[in-house]
Amino acid sequence: MDYKQIRFGVDYYPEHWPRDRWETDARLMREAGLEVVRMGEFSWAKMESDEGKFDFAWLEEAITVLAKEGIKTILGTPTATPPAWIIERNPEILPVDDHGVTRGFGGRHHDCQSNETYRTHIRRFVTAMAKRFANNPHVIGWQPDNEFGNSHRNLCMCDSCAASFRVWLKKKYKTLDALNEAWGTGFWSQTYSKFEQISAPLPTPNSHSPGLLLDWKRFCSDLIVDFQKLQIDILRRECPHHFITHNYMGFFDKTDYFDLGRDLDFVSHDQYPLHFRKDRYPVAPPERLAAALDLMRGIKRKPFWVMEQQGGPSGWETLSASPRPGQLRLWTYQSVAHGADAVVYFRWRTCLFGTEQYWHGLLPHDGKPGRRYDEVKKTAGELKNVINAFAGGDQGAEAAILFSYDQDWAFQVQPHHFDFDYITHLMTYYTAFYKAQVPVDLIPEEADWKKYKLLVAPLQFLTTPELVAKLTDYVATGGHLVLTMRTGVKDWNNRVIPHTLPGPLSEVLGLSVDEYDCLWGVEQAVRWSDESRIVDPEPCVKWCDVVAPTSARALAKYTLDYYGDTPAITENSYKKGASYYVGTELGPEVMKTFVAHALDKANIRSILSPAPSGVEVTRRRAGNHDYIFILNHNSIAAEVRIPKEWKIAIGEAFAEKGILSLPAYEVAVCISE
Ligand code: GAL
Ligand code: ZN
Repeated sequence: MDYKQIRFGVDYYPEHWPRDRWETDARLMREAGLEVVRMGEFSWAKMESDEGKFDFAWLEEAITVLAKEGIKTILGTPTATPPAWIIERNPEILPVDDHGVTRGFGGRHHDCQSNETYRTHIRRFVTAMAKRFANNPHVIGWQPDNEFGNSHRNLCMCDSCAASFRVWLKKKYKTLDALNEAWGTGFWSQTYSKFEQISAPLPTPNSHSPGLLLDWKRFCSDLIVDFQKLQIDILRRECPHHFITHNYMGFFDKTDYFDLGRDLDFVSHDQYPLHFRKDRYPVAPPERLAAALDLMRGIKRKPFWVMEQQGGPSGWETLSASPRPGQLRLWTYQSVAHGADAVVYFRWRTCLFGTEQYWHGLLPHDGKPGRRYDEVKKTAGELKNVINAFAGGDQGAEAAILFSYDQDWAFQVQPHHFDFDYITHLMTYYTAFYKAQVPVDLIPEEADWKKYKLLVAPLQFLTTPELVAKLTDYVATGGHLVLTMRTGVKDWNNRVIPHTLPGPLSEVLGLSVDEYDCLWGVEQAVRWSDESRIVDPEPCVKWCDVVAPTSARALAKYTLDYYGDTPAITENSYKKGASYYVGTELGPEVMKTFVAHALDKANIRSILSPAPSGVEVTRRRAGNHDYIFILNHNSIAAEVRIPKEWKIAIGEAFAEKGILSLPAYEVAVCISE
């Protein structure tokens, strides 16, 4: 079976269960409509108990047991969990954190990815594993490692990584003079006279050079890409008929996912709406989940897999709430609606030991199929054929948001305002499109922008002449472009450019930015002032650019303080297109009005308008048909008015006189011509 036909699966850890249970598991999986498992990604110690002492027989047996029920296997390489015997022999593999402290064995990802000894162990192990399974007819693909970068956010700053950083810098800058110039090391006497003087950014008495910090983030990202490549080269050589994917983590940004994706056949994603720690939402807002999925679709500009879709309550030391009846199904539909061609649930059965004793799978600890199993079975049963109709198809987005890891990192180095965060800012735009039922693609700088009528390019803080030219050309040839606060401030090395902001984009935008104001201890508000709509002033937050129009006209103005009554949002015609500038982080009401205006001008229609609050409407496109997903994220029923021409393809919802009734967490899929 071609992997492109697979729709549902589960992450399985046969090594955690008695051998005599495997047949039961496999049968229950098949009965639930699950067609694939991912296995092996944490079981290095079991597969190699000492150097060169391999035991793959148990895994092969599990693959065979599953295959008897028609289930295929994706293998994970277990390199996120180097066994104790390796660490005992080569403790230099352990990672060093940003305080210079070596992290010990245990947990996972207790590794340094630049360490050559570790890489030698990986080469030996992955080669042996790949050779063993290359011709197994039931193995279809690979996932190198697990969630690259996870647990490595402040790692690794060991000597090996510092040395690799210097090699990376030499390749980038060629000469020390170029590096000193780019980083502006003339400041605070930081001039380097030898590459060897440069180390990883361990704590200084206070802060670090912004140039160094941005390059460090890029280096860390490239290191992960290189670390993946090490395994991919082996897997491609040994297993040319297998696909290779990796499980991403949505907006996680230790590594540039566009770069990481180049070597993969398709990307996968881990989708966990429920959280179990205080620093996250207990349940992620649906628009945040949708945005993460759209980014995954944007990575290779094609559909993806979900390799870990929430299968039960999450938990380590503390727990999330239990998914409500209907929520696992709802979230599965959402993943599919945003571009997943296959959904694999995490995990099969809740483990009896280890850190994830409370990370619940489809089956509870006792192994008896219950509510969650039944819900997934129903979901897989009803969705499979429908996905077949549009698999491979996109969302038919006419609007896009530019997503850039470099911009994100530059704002991590200098957030400007304590609460400022690139992704939160981007979400203010995304949310407005989401709530207007307008699909958007999240795309990188190098994508083809011209197929979009409207492009939002938030926070173009770092610029290059090429990027400026591409933005200018987009508008000149008829595009509608939104640029924002902090555009054109820096060059790609994180040095401020000595021009009047926003630099060469002034002409496209028809304005200059003469001053700015960090909203720290001061307040500001924005009033939509376009004649067509009057909206009450609404607070804006974190930052304001003070804008002087040349040809642009104000759509909205600040209302307070010394720059009250000056433009906060502008519009400008430029050649065949139009440009907008937003000088602040807008509140939701003004943002909604602005996005409605820009959509209207770009001639982009909502899929369904209006839709009740908490009801998501989006689509997958298949030839001449649109499959419209209507998802009620509310814990109460909702009624949605739909056009007569829409045929209900899935859902217990019923439509009477064009009104669709959706109970709590209920979904419907309609087909429109
Ligand atoms: C993911 C990870 C899985 C498992 C799961 C639950 O991030 O890939 O291995 O740990 O979370 O914690
Ligand atoms: Zn290291």
